[in-house]
Amino acid sequence: MNTTDTNPALNPAGTTDMTADSTSGNAGGATAPPRLEVTALSKTYGSGANAKCVIEDLTFTVNTGEVVCIVGPSGVGKTTLLKCLAGLQPATSGTAAIDGRTIAGPPPEMALVFQDYSRSLMPWLTVRKNVRLPLRHLHLPTQEMNQRIDTALEAVGLAHAANQYPWQLSGGMQQRVAIARALAYRPEILIMDEPFASVDAQTRFELEDLCLKIREDFGMTILVVTHDIDEAVYLSDRVVVLGSKPARVLDVIGIDLPAPRDQISTRSLPEFAEQRTTVLSMIRKPA
Ligand SMILES: Nc1ncnc2c1ncn2[C@@H]1O[C@H](COP(=O)(O)OP(=O)(O)OP(=O)(O)O)[C@@H](O)[C@H]1O
Ligand SMILES: [Mg+2]
Repeated sequence: MNTTDTNPALNPAGTTDMTADSTSGNAGGATAPPRLEVTALSKTYGSGANAKCVIEDLTFTVNTGEVVCIVGPSGVGKTTLLKCLAGLQPATSGTAAIDGRTIAGPPPEMALVFQDYSRSLMPWLTVRKNVRLPLRHLHLPTQEMNQRIDTALEAVGLAHAANQYPWQLSGGMQQRVAIARALAYRPEILIMDEPFASVDAQTRFELEDLCLKIREDFGMTILVVTHDIDEAVYLSDRVVVLGSKPARVLDVIGIDLPAPRDQISTRSLPEFAEQRTTVLSMIRKPA
């Protein structure tokens, strides 16, 4: 996984491959073994009288090449879950595994885009150097490294800002730098925690389509946490709906919409509205 400090892949941007639970959907292919497998995962912060169980007994899988979105109420434990999947903190019980290997630290094939992008960028480095940061561990030839950086910055529409510093950019631009850093690393599994929350509607649509394009182009497996139900339906092969408290899987909903998806025509389909209603009513159902 790429996070800034330890794992080049997990750092600034992250990826993960997930196939949703066995309860529904087979968009990733029913016969393929799950790329990511979460089994009875629980996480409790603190101990004794201060113990707080945030996640309880989560089980689901993500298949290779799937886009899976996780939706759930604020504070339910989505970021906590992603940190466990990214190997940044241990689960209290249960396991998360990639290709059957239990995750015990940042997996090299994974990159993570943090929810708090402002803390993931180095203010003293230019945009270009921020994007280059996780690549330094890959020992790429200079030409390939530069080409990856250029391609990633172009993909997020920031080629013109390569020599600026993060503090010279808007919040949405900074988030796009964090996404570019993940793209340049080219992880097999990309995990993003509310990656498009701070950008305007038009940019959000563009980044959603970029997400689907990189899945096609690089065969990435992508796991996204989002609060936006429409976004979850638009992006996903499956949606994992979390209930609270503690966080648990309420359902995994297979999204059956034609490919390629298109911001106007897909969102106009009656099936889109139906799937949106399904996810929404699951979230709003009394516990
Ligand atoms: N390191 C920690 N120590 C103790 N409690 C924590 C820690 N990290 C998170 N929590 C608590 O765990 C709960 C879930 O937090 P988390 O950030 O995972 O939620 P979330 O679903 O990502 O929320 P949001 O949608 O607002 O981003 C919260 O009550 C939070 O206060
Ligand atoms: Mg969060």
